Amino acid sequence: MNTDHSDALVFFGATGDLAYKKIFPSLQAMAKRGRLHVPVIGVAKAGWNLEQLRARARDSVEKHGAVDRAAFDKLCGLLRYVDGDYHDSATFEAIRRELGSAARPAHYLAIPPVLFGVVVEQLVKSGCARGARVIVEKPFGHDLASARDLNRILLGAFDEKAIFRIDHYLGKRPVNNMVFFRFVNSFLEPFWNRGAMESFQITMAEDFGVQGRGAFYDATGTIRDVVQNHLFQVIANFAMEPPARRDSESMRDEKVKVLKAIPPLEAENVIRGQFRGFISETGVAPASKTETFAAMRLDINSPRWQGVPFYVRAGKNLPVTCTEILARFRRAPNAYSDLATAPNHLRFRISPNVQFAMGMLVMVDDEKMTGALKELEGTRAPISDEKDAYERVLTDAVEGDATLFARQDYVEEAWRIVDPYLKSDSPVYGYEPKTWGPSEADQLVGAAGGWHNPVSGR
Ligand code: BG6
Repeated sequence: MNTDHSDALVFFGATGDLAYKKIFPSLQAMAKRGRLHVPVIGVAKAGWNLEQLRARARDSVEKHGAVDRAAFDKLCGLLRYVDGDYHDSATFEAIRRELGSAARPAHYLAIPPVLFGVVVEQLVKSGCARGARVIVEKPFGHDLASARDLNRILLGAFDEKAIFRIDHYLGKRPVNNMVFFRFVNSFLEPFWNRGAMESFQITMAEDFGVQGRGAFYDATGTIRDVVQNHLFQVIANFAMEPPARRDSESMRDEKVKVLKAIPPLEAENVIRGQFRGFISETGVAPASKTETFAAMRLDINSPRWQGVPFYVRAGKNLPVTCTEILARFRRAPNAYSDLATAPNHLRFRISPNVQFAMGMLVMVDDEKMTGALKELEGTRAPISDEKDAYERVLTDAVEGDATLFARQDYVEEAWRIVDPYLKSDSPVYGYEPKTWGPSEADQLVGAAGGWHNPVSGR
């Protein structure tokens, strides 16, 4: 085990929802792949013992995949449990004892952010923070000020290099692969710039509502939930310059530069929507003005992208569940330009399946010289042992690869872009469930050829 590799994983919130849905299945998958060798210490205040935690882990992997006998036994052999209150120093003394000779533990805070401060303080007092790294879950702050506060708390106890801020979206293989795809394939580079590209569109559509998370969603809204984190990461992957080297800092430097070149969101460039029926969801305030849909135009004032709008759209209760990026080309100025009725495009689908398509005009009527936009499309066959996003980020965090984690400057830049807008009083327009949001959103992209609506199952 090299010195970047943690020698124990402590996870707070072991009896919680995230552990049940994501962490146990990922730990089993890591064990199956031979990537989990260190003690895994679950911590929670539930009055449980280790046997109960093992039973919960079994139930979790059964419900979210299947039990793999050998891998599950391996995980159970590594599992420990500490029950106690996060305010009580005895809990942290117990963790210290369980850590034994471990000198480089990773503390994973799979708990509500309001508890980060108290846990970090106790980790320091008990000596558990020495030589350690900390892994923190989204949401990282609610606005710029709270993100800074959180950073202050974490940086008071850990070096930036030891802080791993999770954005599980980056752990998705197609998101992770974007950077590879861009920089190993030379064909993109000549036109991947303002000279050739007219606009970008990113649509993250979900055909379901808030799925019982009404209170969380009402306090959060689409922009905080998925745009300023997940979709900004997608934009950064598409828009960044090639890093000078492939190490995590060189990569993260380039991503931060993209955000630094984006001016704060202007109200005239954003449309927020709320699906009809949202206010009847449990936990949602009757007069809620929280958005369940957002569409916006972002500009990246970099030498490569100045003048190329990046349109972003995300929402709940839309017609399909699909995330796509559409890059539209400028039209060529020649004697045929009046026949070019639509721009060429590249379409990247990253969810639910992976597709790459080139949109081009082909002649359909040689008498009248009319064309139609057709796609040449490739769909990647499903990969049988695909890593789940959580498995990837947890493996990287335990092994010490920070590339897929948001750095302090990155999260603060992301909040800088959306914060003034979120603090302003902007309208929210109603839309019918299973539609593409309020019609006002169409005006945003009118001049750029309209939204491209992903088609499900294609
Ligand atoms: C989460 C959001 O971070 O990402 C959810 O809180 C959203 O609202 C989810 O549905 C989307 O991620 P995935 O992995 O389910 O596509």
